[in-house]
Amino acid sequence: MQTATISFDRFNSLADNDAAERIRAAKAKLGKDVVLLCHHYQRADVFQHADITGDSLKLSRLASQAEAKHIVFCGVHFMAEVADILSRPEQIAILPDLAAGCSMADMANLAKVERAWRELSAVLNPDEKITPVTYINSAADLKAFCGEHGGIVCTSSNAPKILDWAFKQREKVLFFPDQHLGRWSGHQMGIPLDEMVIWNPDLEQGGLTREQIEKAKIILWHGYCSVHQMFQPKDILKFRNQHPDGIVISHPECSFEVCKQSDYIGSTEYILNTVKAAPPNTRWLVGTELNLVERLAKEVAHEGKIVQFMASTICMCSTMQRIDPQHLAWTLENLVEGKVVNQISVPEHEAKLAKISLERMLAVS
Ligand code: 13P
Ligand code: SF4
Repeated sequence: MQTATISFDRFNSLADNDAAERIRAAKAKLGKDVVLLCHHYQRADVFQHADITGDSLKLSRLASQAEAKHIVFCGVHFMAEVADILSRPEQIAILPDLAAGCSMADMANLAKVERAWRELSAVLNPDEKITPVTYINSAADLKAFCGEHGGIVCTSSNAPKILDWAFKQREKVLFFPDQHLGRWSGHQMGIPLDEMVIWNPDLEQGGLTREQIEKAKIILWHGYCSVHQMFQPKDILKFRNQHPDGIVISHPECSFEVCKQSDYIGSTEYILNTVKAAPPNTRWLVGTELNLVERLAKEVAHEGKIVQFMASTICMCSTMQRIDPQHLAWTLENLVEGKVVNQISVPEHEAKLAKISLERMLAVS
């Protein structure tokens, strides 16, 4: 007879230290049966248990190569979906808290993208003229849409390369959901700003005229990350006035103005590697999520490097934050008991199409 899974109620009020001990004990019992993949934005009390850490591209690649039966993803929902899609059928992807979504990913959905595709067809034939490119921060059905329509997935570390591929297929790109990553990557490729237009999914024909659509090279979805929206050019100006020798590094989800005024732009992994490789006694202003910045500041302090957070207010990825030691302990102890909780399982047909666009990305990058 099947026994029930262990309820989360027993873990809800567990002290952080106790949860940490139970996570270590469960991991030791599970051994090679489990691997913990952890995004750089994870809180320190979860991050300390990671087997593998990385940005979205690195974690996608490593999820596709993982040997463990259970892949526990300490990140957000779309990342666990990618792990499920790219891993072998007998492997199981788990997200310790199902409420860990990504608010930017939620800004585009299949119904709205399909509507955009239909509305664009009043002006041109999208299947002939447009390559759909979805940022990895999107639901699996949007990756499937791209797989089905000759499109591709990108991440913050490969977007210009992916756009280059996309333009070799067709003359225009529909880029969703992050307008900022799309704009910055297009700009890096030399595309003029007036050839990148915003598609507002709440307006008829995206709020664009026929002429604007015909002229556009990139049609950018009206999406953004609420965390990276917080960083402002004035924060950079203040830092530069106070520290003329300081260096500014930002994530490409920041606004165009912030990216333009930064010295370096790149993915979370790129930010970490760049600051770690920099000469001692340098000072950095970093425009990305707070958990990453605080951890980096501690790691490089012994070299005399000073790392400052770009915003004057606390801005964390509140959804990523939902993966806490209590949920991780609960997930792992269930696995010890032979129970799976919070499995992320993308429907087969969707997974097959989404895999096409993800594998195109992995081949190109
Ligand atoms: P990276 O791929 O750079 O880690 O970015 C993921 C993300 O969600 C940043 O907000
Ligand atoms: Fe999504 Fe922004 Fe969080 Fe990244 S930081 S996971 S884009 S909400």
